[in-house]
Amino acid sequence: MCGIIGYVGAEASDRPLAVVMEALSRLQYRGYDSAGVVVVGEAGLAHAKKAGKLDALEGELAARPLQTASCAVGHTRWATHGGPTDRNAHPHLSQDESVAVVHNGILENHATLRQELRAEGVEFASETDTEVAAHLLARAYRDLGNLPDAMRAVARRLEGAFTLLAVAADNPKEVVGARRTSPLVVGLGQGENFLGSDVAAFIAHTNRALELGQDQVVTITPTSVSVTDFAGNPAPTREFTVDWDASAAVKGGFATFMDKEIHDQPDAVRDTLLGRTTPQGRLQLDELRIEESLLRSVDKIIVVACGTAAYAGHVAKYAIEHWCRIPVEVELAHEFRYRDPIVTVKTLVVAISQSGETMDTIQAIRHAREQGAKVVAVVNTMGSTIARESDAALYTHAGPEVAVASTKAFLAQITATYLLGLYLAQLRGVMFADEIRGVLEELDLMPAKIQEVINSEGEIRALAERMKDTRSVLFLGRHVGFPVALEGALKLKELAYIHAEGFAAGELKHGPIALIEDGQPVFVVVPSPRGRDVLHDKVLSNIQEVRARGALTLVVAERGDRAVLEHAERVFWVPQTPTLLAPLVAVVPLQIFACALAGAKGLDVDQPRNLAKSVTVE
Ligand code: F6R
Repeated sequence: MCGIIGYVGAEASDRPLAVVMEALSRLQYRGYDSAGVVVVGEAGLAHAKKAGKLDALEGELAARPLQTASCAVGHTRWATHGGPTDRNAHPHLSQDESVAVVHNGILENHATLRQELRAEGVEFASETDTEVAAHLLARAYRDLGNLPDAMRAVARRLEGAFTLLAVAADNPKEVVGARRTSPLVVGLGQGENFLGSDVAAFIAHTNRALELGQDQVVTITPTSVSVTDFAGNPAPTREFTVDWDASAAVKGGFATFMDKEIHDQPDAVRDTLLGRTTPQGRLQLDELRIEESLLRSVDKIIVVACGTAAYAGHVAKYAIEHWCRIPVEVELAHEFRYRDPIVTVKTLVVAISQSGETMDTIQAIRHAREQGAKVVAVVNTMGSTIARESDAALYTHAGPEVAVASTKAFLAQITATYLLGLYLAQLRGVMFADEIRGVLEELDLMPAKIQEVINSEGEIRALAERMKDTRSVLFLGRHVGFPVALEGALKLKELAYIHAEGFAAGELKHGPIALIEDGQPVFVVVPSPRGRDVLHDKVLSNIQEVRARGALTLVVAERGDRAVLEHAERVFWVPQTPTLLAPLVAVVPLQIFACALAGAKGLDVDQPRNLAKSVTVE
């Protein structure tokens, strides 16, 4: 949560502010309650901050331009402590205006520190936890005489999660950052350097980046980057190259990022499959650097994730259990961490995350590793905390996902977990080579099938337009259709602010069927009739149960499944697909429906209210 950018260049110019504002427009998906910038030039610090989205800050800067400068820091906020007001927007300046800081995370001991500072006569200008860091830093800067030492001294006193960036009024050639748990990456330029909460902050300028570890302080000048731990000892860093460019993070002619990302899905699946099989059709997951003997001895898999990523985990459970005959549990990361789960050295934990920065998932990983389990991260963001803190990272190659609600990352996550399941099956010898090859061949056909569903989006968009005044929608599915139903409901809730619930179709009669009244829209995900007939027929019975009570049944079914016609008001056809792979096509009409309905209601599809893309607080 919260987007952060720091920039330092050689000459005083308009560039620092321009770089920072452009970065904030890319980072807005991390939070958009308020935004602010600070620059350091001849006249010391100059700053501007405004509640609301970035255009409010742009208006402020147009009315009151800032001086030219050689360094600048920017912030876009997702409010935690203190409401989304101008006062609480970052940056926060010390009382003597000697330093300014921006922050992502939560300072858990802010109340104690606030008391201590108040006792010394400091007056607070905001209700944020962050402001204590500004005052502490000014004090340390006065005592120690340089900003990196001052930052280390402050970082040692802070509890909780934080990325802090700071600048000093009397040094326009230096930006200092500190990180504990919250994300921070360095962008390496030529005669200029960058700090960002993720690579999107500086991808328009460089694709060379440095990962930072836990509890590190980084100092950038136009020509140098130095990294230490909180005690001041030099710390190792790892350089990596970002494998996408700025053009991947623009709307590319679509009205919204979400529209674009829905259309990116065939590529997201194709790219995630790419390069992971040998010409002989054997799976080769080079990144899975966990001893094969350990993977053979795994007796339980626990998937930890949140939200949409957890639903990808639900799909993985069905596939991995079927292919590998290993029990798979799927657990919301925040529940896993605090319930004393049974984890042993034979447990493989699979952590799924788009951002790689979800704090709940990070904590779950840490807990699992403390118990001796190995952790494989299925993650979209290179260099992210989850990728670094896991024993191995299996990357999804969805490219940057900018819309706050996840779409293409979901499909890429499902795809990657299929690969993981098949790889384990191959390693443990529980599937024949030609069976695995068969599934891989089917997977290769999925991008074209997803494209086919996207090509028929007109129908579902028209339905969404007609249903824009709907107050409640239910989603039903069985087997892998159940997580698809859950995801369809989540998309509708978060994008269109409509009450929506996903149910296992068989569960309905145990209570929720009481919700059905005349005209209640119910989406039903129908499994393939060519797969396990029983499953198909059971879902048809479930449709009849709700229809008999007045529901308006909207059915997602496999092309050619004529049996559904008599049970549905509307049918949205998807291509014929083996049951376990069907979520990759079945969820697409539901994503399009939610996106179109939110658009029809005039809502901001890319930045729904109250949400942030990367949830870096617990
Ligand atoms: C919903 C959505 C969220 C995320 C969840 C986990 O559309 O985007 O539910 O899936 O916050 O985020 P990551 O995958 O970044 O760990």
